[in-house]
Amino acid sequence: MADIRRIAVFTSGGDAPGMNAAIRAVVRTASHYDLHVYGVRRGYQGMIENDVKRMETRDVGNIIQRGGTILKTARSKDFMNPVGRAKAYDTLKAHDIDAVVAIGGDGTYTGAMIFSEEYDIPFIGIPGTIDNDIFGTDYTIGYDTAVNTAIEAVDRIRDTADSHNRLFFVEVMGRHAGFIALSAGIGGGAGCILVPEYDTSIDALCDVLKKGVYKDKLFSIVIIAEGNKNGGAAEIAQKVQEQFNFYDSKVAVIGHLQRGGAPTALDRLLASRLGFGAVERLLAGERNVALGLVNDEVVATPFKEAISNKKDLNKELLRMASILAL
Ligand code: F6P
Repeated sequence: MADIRRIAVFTSGGDAPGMNAAIRAVVRTASHYDLHVYGVRRGYQGMIENDVKRMETRDVGNIIQRGGTILKTARSKDFMNPVGRAKAYDTLKAHDIDAVVAIGGDGTYTGAMIFSEEYDIPFIGIPGTIDNDIFGTDYTIGYDTAVNTAIEAVDRIRDTADSHNRLFFVEVMGRHAGFIALSAGIGGGAGCILVPEYDTSIDALCDVLKKGVYKDKLFSIVIIAEGNKNGGAAEIAQKVQEQFNFYDSKVAVIGHLQRGGAPTALDRLLASRLGFGAVERLLAGERNVALGLVNDEVVATPFKEAISNKKDLNKELLRMASILAL
């Protein structure tokens, strides 16, 4: 067993439902092994500014069901330079921290990897982002909740779209990744799904919509990931209207609604497993890896690999969605 007595935990980057469940799992598992846990507020920025508090098992009571993160989160520019990282190291040393659990996305992992190359403190990463765009895990914490929120919104839009025979352009999150759009599009019965990973031209989109009209589709919903190449929902709606104005069209941007709310059962379970696994693996001597769930097994991927590999969006599911739409 590695000689670890004090660990730190923090959340960083965009928040994600289930981060609290992960914090809880880290604190409770550490407490089980008689470790002291320190919570770092506001991610790397809090580490630089010594915004640290001792966390005991009761501090994480009644949070498993809460969205957001009790430790707050931030995107720290200061941590990107060596001076900031030196201050962060001073903070960890001041609290005698032996190891760190970092909960966040690829920016968080990049920071952890650089830091662990400069300083001899083991880090373990846990994937917390609604985007699901992390290599080395089938799912990230928060993704399932975000997809459910998006589908619930699409269901509501569907009612009014049907009543008025309208075409709705619904924009979901995903600056660089189409996982939310793909899942919400399939689950929400979208007529077409636009993702950043694969280009769909406006002409191709109009063709799909026309096919729907030939098949007596009186309303339709197009799901758009914010990072797709044609622009945002409003821009796309306008371009489509110029070519094809069979429907009266409307736009809805779900936005940050997808980032909040109580985590689903799947996210709570995933967060609990990864938080628990992070502490046990640190104690087993693992370091500078990101944990993930692959085929229902908790696995570790070196930060470098997790960052440099892109997780593929399943193109076959896009093909399926286009068949099921008509
Ligand atoms: O959490 C990931 C993500 O939701 C992206 O899909 C989105 O573009 C981005 O964060 C927005 O982040 P913020 O609201 O923190 O600027």
